[in-house]
Amino acid sequence: MAKLWTGRFSKETDQSLDVLNASLPFDCRLYRQDITGSIAHAKMLAKQAIISKEDGAAIVKGLQEILADIDDGKLVLQGAEDIHTFVEQELTKRIGDAGKRLHTARSRNDQVALDLRMYVKEEIKSIHDLVVQLIIALCERSQEHCYTVMPGYTHLQRAQPVTLAHVWMAYGNMLRRDCVRLNNTKALMDEMPLGSGALAATTYPIDRQYVCDQLGFAKITDNSMDGVSDRDYCMELASDCAILMMHLSRMCEELILWCSWEFRFVELDDAFSTGSSIMPQKKNPDVCELIRGKSGRVYGDLMTLLSMQKGLSLAYNKDMQEDKEALFDVIDTVEHSLQVLIPMFLTMKIHEENMEQAALGGFINATDCADYLTKKGVPFRDAYKCIGEMVAWCIEQGCALKDVPLVKLQQFHPLFEADVYEAIDLQTCIKERKVPGGPAPDAVKAQIEALKEFVRKEAAT
Ligand code: ARG
Repeated sequence: MAKLWTGRFSKETDQSLDVLNASLPFDCRLYRQDITGSIAHAKMLAKQAIISKEDGAAIVKGLQEILADIDDGKLVLQGAEDIHTFVEQELTKRIGDAGKRLHTARSRNDQVALDLRMYVKEEIKSIHDLVVQLIIALCERSQEHCYTVMPGYTHLQRAQPVTLAHVWMAYGNMLRRDCVRLNNTKALMDEMPLGSGALAATTYPIDRQYVCDQLGFAKITDNSMDGVSDRDYCMELASDCAILMMHLSRMCEELILWCSWEFRFVELDDAFSTGSSIMPQKKNPDVCELIRGKSGRVYGDLMTLLSMQKGLSLAYNKDMQEDKEALFDVIDTVEHSLQVLIPMFLTMKIHEENMEQAALGGFINATDCADYLTKKGVPFRDAYKCIGEMVAWCIEQGCALKDVPLVKLQQFHPLFEADVYEAIDLQTCIKERKVPGGPAPDAVKAQIEALKEFVRKEAAT
């Protein structure tokens, strides 16, 4: 394999080293960023008269053609150590000596730092936009389910009544924060490292700001050793994605439960379900399980990145080549997960009647029943005890609170009157939870509106 370094060495490298050293099989995905960065660099070199105008123009033209050929599949990315070497070799093959001038005032260390930052910036936007799409999907479906009562759970035990829309808005708000986290990561990493050189910048009169402006970064990096050394933005993206995957995983876990015959709250569309090779009756939520499972991969990738860097003295060390596969895996995993989750969510069938049926059992209006007495002046702790005794009695009788006749209720507490049945009706229980953030239809509609407003603002930026 042809090397960029010649002169110092009298022997070819061993083949086993070549295999270990090679990153082209995975950093080939940075070809667009690498070439775009090189075009900006070449234009700057010519502008500063570090190379001639003619050489500058030949390099730019050559690079544009290489980019087009790779895009068209005419040029296959192989036969070099990494993407930077590949592009430079190909350029020199095509335009001769001018190609050899491209690397003036640059090192692969600041080159890879630039490529990776450009790539991460773009991918943050892609992931962000997918999360926004999922929020839109949650808002859309929630609109139809502001009155769909279901049990809210704690400890996976039926606790208090909520609505389906309220549950989905909980996830919507988690995803909103995921978007903000991604925005923050992007704002913090928006710095242009080219010009850092190998580690100690360069003696050439380069114009870093010019490169920065061409590539659309917010500013140039402030320190050349930092510019080539840190991969904190990769870790930050991985960390944002780990949290995002944790949210998706919880959402999926919930759907897995809801798909079971024990719940039967939802049914996935056939296009997003799988069967069993032996059990003909099965319809499995594999998509949800895969997303739940893949969250672990992303956590692992985050750990890979953190461990890769923690012991490295300044500046560039080859360990850092290990950043890419972990980072790419994070990005691919998150994007694929969202690309399947969104249509799966939009097409799934809701069995409202089963949710409502579940809400009728499990005494989820017991708190409301205690509140009824409390509002009549009974201290809450006494009311709590009284309803506890009533629940125990109902369990024995096999009935719900709403089925207990008034005379019986009055034996438990004399302050019960006929209006108690209205007070413990599930629709009333929902309607009365109308504080901001609560599950009452109007409160949830406000949550939906707030998220839609968030989405509108995100689209505008
Ligand atoms: N393939 C390398 C990487 O991904 C590019 C930088 C190589 N620099 C060096 N001095 N060997 O990190």
